Amino acid sequence: MTIDPKPEVRIFDTLETLSRAAAEVVTSLSERAMASRGRFSVALSGGSTPRRLYTFLASSPWQERIDWSGAHFFWVDERCVPWDHRESNFKLANDTFLSKVPVAAGNIHRICGEEEPECAAQEYEEELRSFFGPSSLPVFDLVILGAGQDGHTASLFPRAAAVRERARLAVPVHLDAPKLSRVTLTLPVLINAMQVLFLVSGREKAGIVHEILEDGNPRLCPAGLVQPARGRVTWMLGRDAAGLIEERRRASNKSG
Ligand code: 6PG
Repeated sequence: MTIDPKPEVRIFDTLETLSRAAAEVVTSLSERAMASRGRFSVALSGGSTPRRLYTFLASSPWQERIDWSGAHFFWVDERCVPWDHRESNFKLANDTFLSKVPVAAGNIHRICGEEEPECAAQEYEEELRSFFGPSSLPVFDLVILGAGQDGHTASLFPRAAAVRERARLAVPVHLDAPKLSRVTLTLPVLINAMQVLFLVSGREKAGIVHEILEDGNPRLCPAGLVQPARGRVTWMLGRDAAGLIEERRRASNKSG
């Protein structure tokens, strides 16, 4: 696999078309991973954008195409709440697709948000090491990420110590009240995936998306730091989130 340092950017008219295309990417990657390695490992994101993708995965034709017996589900981050809390990222995935497909309980590797954050992070790191091997960095077949208006991704927030973590696989993140504490995968894990898929929609993201993908200095915010160490990074954008990119491209075409 060659590393492609330049992200692929795909723009979609609606969240619906973006989510369909993302379901196709997830399914094709699962087919390829099953054919070559006999298992498919994916780290899921929370947030609102992937919800539609998740519901597609539990419906036809995608549900039938995925070999659920070999699919393993992890999370890029979790909020420190019980598993059935409305803020739980596990609950989002469970309600939208995991509870509707024939996946074995042993293939679901959730972060225990109900525990004390440091313990939950340590346990999750042990789970990752037992699945991927004790001494190497995890290599996910697929990592699904979102991006916040402030440039955060997973629970790596701008200027937080977690962004600089290079030794641990998962760390606790303590946000100012009233926000929740969280547990997040660290950058070395995210960038080591075979495929990273950013799903971003909403006009309020147009500024940060432009800054990351076009400004020439994407390294200033956490989402921009997700530059591949192994595989490739694809940004799937709603036309609203890509608004500034398209506007500036049109302007520079006119002036050129
Ligand atoms: C979370 C996420 C987080 C999310 C972004 C984008 O648990 O909230 O993993 O990083 O992906 O905040 O969220 P939206 O999709 O809601 O814009």
